[in-house]
Amino acid sequence: MSYQVNEKGYYGDFGGAYIPEMLYPNVEELRKSYLEITNKPSFKEEFDQLLKDYVGRPSPLYFAKRLSEKHNTKVYLKREDLNHTGAHKVNNTIGQILVAKRLGKNRIIAETGAGQHGVATATVCALMGIQCVVYMGEIDIKRQAPNVARMKMLGAEVIPAKSGSKTLKDATNEAIRDWINNPVDTHYIIGSAIGPHPYPDMVTRFQSIISEEIKWQLKEKEGRENPDYVVACIGGGSNAAGTYYHFLDESEVGIIAVEAAGKGVHSGESAATSQLGNEGIIHGCKTLLMQTPDGQITEPYSISAGLDYPGVGPLHSHLYKSGRGEFYSVTDDDAMTAGLELSQLEGIIPAIESSHALAIFNDKKFKPEDIVVISLSGRGDKDLNTYIDYFKL
Ligand SMILES: Cc1ncc(COP(=O)(O)O)c(C=O)c1O
Repeated sequence: MSYQVNEKGYYGDFGGAYIPEMLYPNVEELRKSYLEITNKPSFKEEFDQLLKDYVGRPSPLYFAKRLSEKHNTKVYLKREDLNHTGAHKVNNTIGQILVAKRLGKNRIIAETGAGQHGVATATVCALMGIQCVVYMGEIDIKRQAPNVARMKMLGAEVIPAKSGSKTLKDATNEAIRDWINNPVDTHYIIGSAIGPHPYPDMVTRFQSIISEEIKWQLKEKEGRENPDYVVACIGGGSNAAGTYYHFLDESEVGIIAVEAAGKGVHSGESAATSQLGNEGIIHGCKTLLMQTPDGQITEPYSISAGLDYPGVGPLHSHLYKSGRGEFYSVTDDDAMTAGLELSQLEGIIPAIESSHALAIFNDKKFKPEDIVVISLSGRGDKDLNTYIDYFKL
């Protein structure tokens, strides 16, 4: 079975490019050129140099001793939280801004949920001196205020999305609307492994630096490249796609995906897409999504803005349907508790999104000799107010 995208942009039954006619020239231009551009030695050189000197890569692979003792297994954390701007998102925005420049675009738009992708986009636009517009749901603007301030400080315009659940899905709708109106000069930097082909593949390739590093780092520390499990939280699925990428064909490596169950999978307030969703089309691709029987998208809910999305990327739908990935969902309460646990056992305050991955130990028991690599996708600075309110700190 292949876990790579095929020529038509499909992972098994999922993917493709379902787009309005107005966007066809843009998406087609990108589809035709993304591999040619990104495979050029001059592109790779600039990308690698920025990842090293600007982002601070390689991010450490940290053996979490006290967390390992607590859960009686060997836990390594891939420290994407230590990247410049505080999450994995910047790996992708660096890649995409370099593509946009080569396509001659002079205006960037983006959507954001937790604000991390918005900050990472505003950052690379400042770096390159390019105009930046970020769409963000009105609710997310309130719960991720520090990131909104950062985007503004970096010179980006933040436009609130006021429709629907006023979260990530609605921000994405607004960004697509903008792109339709500005098809020539604007590049849309999608922030997850979602959207029409070639976005899921392009984003996955930029994020695959995560698993590329895990391989040599683990070899140095444990004498072998492959862990027993890789674990990541899934919103649209970009940190997960990057964490899994170089292990997809290594059948001895277990792939674990953690979604947000919100107040409980069947509470009506959840974002556990693989369990609640079925096949449909969202934001340009065919994938699993939460919808009513007549195909209206169901409003998702999660305490974490970055996981509050009713779909998952097509690679993940394929991993779910083919059985290659094990999918779990974690409630708000369990994620918050896991975030507090990491803070107090290891001195690392995680993003609430990453706390979902850390809550895997409630659902899955690992063997003492297992090596479990968890993607610590981001740091918790942006979430301090939510942690304070939740734990009455
Ligand atoms: C820290 C962090 N982790 C995870 C996510 C979820 O996104 P993805 O599934 O694309 O990795 C986000 C999204 O904003 C995030 O900020």
